[in-house]
Amino acid sequence: MTPRSVLNRPRGTTATGLGPYPPARMQNLKGLILSGGAGTRLRPITHTSAKQLVPVANKPVLFYGIEALVAAGVTEIGIVIAPETGGEIREAVGDGSALGASVTYIPQEAPLGLAHAVLTAEEFLGDSPFVMYLGDNLLRDGITDLVAAFREHEPEALIMLTRVPEPQHYGVAELDGNRVVRLVEKPSEPPSDLALVGVYMFKPSVFAAAKAIDPSPRGELEITDTIQRLIDEGAKVEHHLVKGWWKDTGQLADMLEANRLVLEDIVPVNDGELIDSTVEGRVRIAAGARVERTAIRGPAVIGAGARIADAYIGPYTAIGEGCELVGSEIEHSILLRGAKVRNLASRMEASLLGRDVSVTSSDGLPKTIRMMVGDSSELTLP
Ligand code: DAU
Repeated sequence: MTPRSVLNRPRGTTATGLGPYPPARMQNLKGLILSGGAGTRLRPITHTSAKQLVPVANKPVLFYGIEALVAAGVTEIGIVIAPETGGEIREAVGDGSALGASVTYIPQEAPLGLAHAVLTAEEFLGDSPFVMYLGDNLLRDGITDLVAAFREHEPEALIMLTRVPEPQHYGVAELDGNRVVRLVEKPSEPPSDLALVGVYMFKPSVFAAAKAIDPSPRGELEITDTIQRLIDEGAKVEHHLVKGWWKDTGQLADMLEANRLVLEDIVPVNDGELIDSTVEGRVRIAAGARVERTAIRGPAVIGAGARIADAYIGPYTAIGEGCELVGSEIEHSILLRGAKVRNLASRMEASLLGRDVSVTSSDGLPKTIRMMVGDSSELTLP
């Protein structure tokens, strides 16, 4: 049943009773990308680098989010950054003009929750309705449909949902017919299999709701609790089901899966140099890459200036800029800029190597293993 407060409210007014909502504002949406947080689940990569900058098919995850907003006509974008990784994000994105956006950086002093990030951005957002996009999320079909639905229906909040096999790892929505009645963050007993995808649309009434909630048991101001507050106040909260695939790239398996899904759609191009090598399937080789005596079975991408020799590159592999792969086989893996893999006896798979990591096999005896490995690394050896 629709709450009375909604039925009584004239079209174009906000739940907080701020008065008529100017229709022109719905056309002028701002974007808010959350790119702070600690990234603990992607350590050790995130000891030295922001998780939102880990590349998927050789492009940082965050860039896909910015491009999705720009494609939906949202170009005035605030990016929430953390003290530890903010500098690197500023360096990678700059003023956003290369991606068609105008970017303002919003430092958040600590990862105190998604709703805390929204409150940190209150001054930037002002009285604009906005799209909030979690910087580690990837959606195949972008957000143009969602933004169009928000402009058309003008709800107080619009959330995106998708069915997942393990809803306990996400925010979960309970629907009554088509109405959102309850949202719970990472419940041990999920009320449905409908996970909250990391894209939300809000009007400025979200600020009052975020200020009214308490931190959750994990100590964060949750956006799920904020939206629940809006629902409890009788505000119109709509949902939109995601059609194409969606990935939260917060963990290694998800990152590899996102890489696989994006590579499925790449357009093959060879701007590099191929010598005595074979290429099958969709493969993109960047300028300045040199591939010798190697078999590549796509989908795969090879970054600028990479050196590949006497190797095999199997499906779903992204080799970053300036990497070296010699006398080795690799598939379903991501190598970040400058990583080197030489003379491996076994095929490397389902792996993510950080920047400038070197993996080498020594020949001869004794057959020993020598390592210098950073904190929280994971190695699986034969
Ligand atoms: O990916 C979808 C899920 O994202 C939703 O289903 C959940 O309801 C939602 O709470 C969120 O859960 P996560 O645990 O995956 O959120 P995470 O801590 O990974 O943060 C998401 C993004 O927001 C990430 O790019 C880091 C950034 N962030 C996070 C926090 C807690 C901030 O910028 N500031 C913060 O305080």
